[in-house]
Order: sequence, then C-alpha cells, then structure tokens
Amino acid sequence: MIDGRVGGPVSLRDVEALVATKLDAGPLGYFAGGAGDERTLADNEAAFARLQLLPRVLVDVSAVDTATTVLGTPISMPVIVAPVALQRMAHPDGEPGMARAAAAAGTLMCVSTLATATAREVAEAAPGAPRWFQLYVLRDRGVTHALVDEAVDCGYRALVVTVDAPRAGRRERDLRTGFAVPPGIDMPGVSAAAGHSVGLTPADFFSLVDASLSWKDLEALVEAVEIPVLVKGIHTAADARLAIAHGAAGIVVSNHGGRQLDGVPAGIDLLEDVVQEVAGDVEVLVDGGVRRGTDVLKALALGARAVLVGRPLLWGLAWDGEAGARWVLETLRAELELDLMLLGAATPAQVVRAHVR
Ligand code: FNR
Ligand code: LAC
Repeated sequence: MIDGRVGGPVSLRDVEALVATKLDAGPLGYFAGGAGDERTLADNEAAFARLQLLPRVLVDVSAVDTATTVLGTPISMPVIVAPVALQRMAHPDGEPGMARAAAAAGTLMCVSTLATATAREVAEAAPGAPRWFQLYVLRDRGVTHALVDEAVDCGYRALVVTVDAPRAGRRERDLRTGFAVPPGIDMPGVSAAAGHSVGLTPADFFSLVDASLSWKDLEALVEAVEIPVLVKGIHTAADARLAIAHGAAGIVVSNHGGRQLDGVPAGIDLLEDVVQEVAGDVEVLVDGGVRRGTDVLKALALGARAVLVGRPLLWGLAWDGEAGARWVLETLRAELELDLMLLGAATPAQVVRAHVR
C-alpha cells in the first residue's frame, strides 16, 4: 500500500520539499543542481509530462507483478538506484544505508566511484543483495584498477562505466555557494587518487577522470574483467552501436541528470532512437527525471528495460536515512503496481510501444 501517512510525504516530490530546509546551501545546491541554465535538468521531468499513456481495458490485472530482471538479475521492479556521489553528505547512513534500503525493496544499487564508503563497506552493509559498481576511469590507472578489483572481489555483478563526464559540467549553484567537500566527509576513491577529499570542489574531483578515454580503452576494460560492463551517458544511436561493438553488455541512456552538457535532450527523449538502433542486442536503461510510476511506464513503453533514479533517493536519504530511501523505493513500486493495473498490463513485459504517445 502507498502509506500516505497523514502529515507525511505522499509523493517523491513531497520528500524533496521536506529536505530543502534541512540541507545546507552547499550540499543542497550540489545535489539539486544542473549545468548552465539547467534547461536539460528541467526538461528531464518536463519531457515525461509531454508523453501520454494510452491504457487498454478488460485486461486481467487481478495479479499484477512489478518484478523483472536486468542482465539476468531478478529485481522487484524495473527501478535501479542510480550511482550518486557523496551520500554521507546527505545523511550519515550514506551508501551503506542506501544499500540496505535497496536490498529491503528488492532492487539493485549502483554504487559510485565517488561514494563516501568503499565498495567493500557497501557490500558488507547488504550482503547477498545485487549491486553494480559505477566506474570513473581515472588518470591514475593504479587506483582505477584497485577500485575495479575491490568491486569484483566483493561480488559486484557488473561495472557501469560513466562516459559523459570527462570533466564536471558548469555547476553554477556550486560556484555561487562555493561548494566544496565539507569536513568529515571522505570519498575513499578520491582520497586514494588525490590524497584527500575534504575541500575539493566538483571540478577538482572530476579533474581526476581520464579525459583521453576512447572506445579502445572500453574494449580493453571489457577484456580485463570477468563481469559485464555497461556504458552510462550514451545520448545517440551511433554511440550505442559503438559501445556494443566494443563489448558493452548494456547501455544507460543518460544526460547525468542535466549536470553535464546543458541543452541536450531529456533522457526519455533520447531513448527511442537508441532502442531502435540496439534492436534487442543488449538491454537499454534510461535515467533523468523519473519521479512517478507513470514515468517508469513511459520508459518501459519506449523500450527501456529499467530506469535509474537519482535525486529522489538522495532526498529520501536526507529526510530519514535508510528508512527514507526505502520509503521512496517502496512508494515508487506501489505507484508502479497501481499504474500497471490502470494501464492494462499485468507485468513490465506487457508494457508496449502502443501504450504511449
Ligand atoms: C549524480 N550522477 C552520477 N552519475 C555517475 O555515473 N556517477 C556519479 O558519481 C554520479 N553522482 C551524482 C551526484 C548527484 C548529486 C546527482 C544528482 C547525480 C548522475 C546519476 O547517476 C543519474 O544519472 C541522475 O541523477 C539521474 O537523474 P535524476 O534521477 O537525479 O533526475
Ligand atoms: C556529479 C558526479 C559526481 O554529477 O557524477 O556530481
């Protein structure tokens, strides 16, 4: 049931409003902000609103099941926890709390290279739960390999290489607040490469990323690890085809939540061209602006296997730690279950292109 506690949040957007006064300006601006004029940030959500759902009736929806799989891993719903940096800046529970929330909700968490906990600490927080490791390939290849080795050693089931961030986008909220990593917050991966995390700006920690990365580097990484490698930050069909040609086992269509190049299309508006080009060769995920079960339905109808959710889970964490993140996931799943019923589809697989326009 969607537990709309009287006086408490009812929707994911309610939680964002709750934490707006709870977080300091620096962290809030970093979490909420996008790049430049934040046109893509806004369009990520507006694009979902432009799409319409077309329900079919008299379909037996007496037994709706939101469960699905991604890369063969069973999950309770086609919703994955997006890789998001600096989660202990939102709440002391941080990434370990997020991992417990994802495990309790029966879905998969993607852990960031820029997490405030090591891959091992996150794995130990929710042993047995499925998780992926998001990799920024750093100029320091020794640290990069150590991060990958730790993730593989801790049973991470896939790598997600983020390719749309050779440098940080122009995050003007951060420039206005003078945001830098506050005292008491450490990103072990960053500290391994830079010696410390405190006091670094996003531009500082993004400068650790290897901007010379090319498709042959992706191919070498795929050959070097025994777990599947997905590519996150694909905008075009041409790059999706190149990713597959160089060994990608999955594609995440993403504009990084509007935080990189301002003026690119919304993630959901990029999806269909990529799905048509990929034509079932690999699973395609999408993220950016997912706030409702109906947004998940639209992504499924346009060919996504699942979506990733970022900021709403940060707001849940900031609001009430692990319990808040779990509430966000469970509310989204309850919405999706109801929305599937009203759409006339008993499972995610029954959602097809004709359900959206
Ligand atoms: C991100 N994102 C991100 N992506 C990634 O590959 N590695 C990372 O470390 C981060 N860090 C990060 C921090 C913050 C504060 C945000 C908001 C986002 C991008 C993230 O994975 C995802 O693509 C977007 O957040 C999806 O958009 P929504 O759901 O936030 O609208
Ligand atoms: C960001 C990085 C951490 O978007 O991906 O801030």
